[in-house]
Amino acid sequence: MYADRVLSGMRPTGALHLGHYHGVLKNWLRLQHEYECLFFVADWHALTTHYDDPLAIEDNTWQMVIDWLAAGVDPSKAVLFIQSQVIEHAELHLLMSMMTPLAWLERVPTYKDQQEKLTDKDLSTYGFLGYPLLQAADILIYRANKVPVGEDQVPHIEFAREIARRFNHLYGREPGYEEKAQAAIKKLGGKKGKLYEELRTRYQQAGDQEALAAARALLAETQNLSLGDMERLYGYLEGGGKMILTEPDALLTPSSKMPGLDGQKMSKSYNNTIALREDPEVIHKKIRTMPTDPARIRRSDPGNPERCPVWQLHQVYSDEAQKAWVREGCTTAGIGCLECKQPIIDAVLKELAPIQERARALAEDPDSVRNIIADGCEKARDLARETMRDVREAMGLVQL
Ligand code: TRP
Ligand code: SF4
Repeated sequence: MYADRVLSGMRPTGALHLGHYHGVLKNWLRLQHEYECLFFVADWHALTTHYDDPLAIEDNTWQMVIDWLAAGVDPSKAVLFIQSQVIEHAELHLLMSMMTPLAWLERVPTYKDQQEKLTDKDLSTYGFLGYPLLQAADILIYRANKVPVGEDQVPHIEFAREIARRFNHLYGREPGYEEKAQAAIKKLGGKKGKLYEELRTRYQQAGDQEALAAARALLAETQNLSLGDMERLYGYLEGGGKMILTEPDALLTPSSKMPGLDGQKMSKSYNNTIALREDPEVIHKKIRTMPTDPARIRRSDPGNPERCPVWQLHQVYSDEAQKAWVREGCTTAGIGCLECKQPIIDAVLKELAPIQERARALAEDPDSVRNIIADGCEKARDLARETMRDVREAMGLVQL
């Protein structure tokens, strides 16, 4: 019924590094050509953990947006916005908080994990407990059905699904619901209507997932129904009411293979990153001083690439011929480690040159960045308002 819509958010961590680029951003670049996409800065989410020192959030937001744009996220393809500028997210969060069982929030795994991990922070706050609910609001307010996230975020998407289902169940039953659903089935036409009822029975009585998928497909190709009837029939299928909020699916981001300078995953907290806007001199230095196979002490000692973090970078940047050159040269002491690192230095510099060029131009023109975001916020707000009208109506709130 609704076309695919992709939504994803990033907390404002400031300038991004190659790990973000190879992990998240390249994925976004691909998605923006395939789907309607919304990408946003989750600055309220940053406050859930950094409420005691919020000063960096604003600057981090703009730095991150510059890096998105420099990396090729295209504002003519994707809607780019800042969470706190679309206050409807907060309204949906509040309204959904009324029907969210505390136990559901308490059992989201990140809740206890993060509290135990970030021991320097007091995270026994209302806001932090509500983190997944705020994230659910971010997603549901756009009726986004595809949410690209890493593995760690999958429980949050699962949570958003449960909230959407509960919401539809509680508020999707309008007066005369059953009769309206029956009338809508009639409009499907005799044959299709009968098939719909059969599939619905199979799903509801036997939990037959294939029947559910078939019935959804049947609705998806139906063209003569109003949006309201369509929503009703999607909802009726699953035994719930009218489908007001859409259950999203996680679109699992292939986990980044980008190793850091020490061979661990590249991450700011390991201090092993190359920033997208890292100075070329510094890039040289960082790669030249990378650790190598610890057994290769002298130039004449043969090495083992499997024990070397530089080899992992060759997996990202080198073709087969170059990898063969490394394997051969390393294990026979035919090449030195600096020699081995040079193609990596060249590849990183080449990859980053156009990004840095664009970032420079954007940093010098903050007004254009602001305008891009202002425009995105406006578009996001329009979409969010549409959903909120339905939500308020379903929850029995006055709208003037
Ligand atoms: N929690 C996400 C993270 O830490 C960020 C985020 C907030 C998000 N809201 C979202 C991601 C909505 C996807 C959809 O990475
Ligand atoms: Fe690592 Fe290359 Fe040195 Fe071998 S030659 S130890 S792969 S840097």
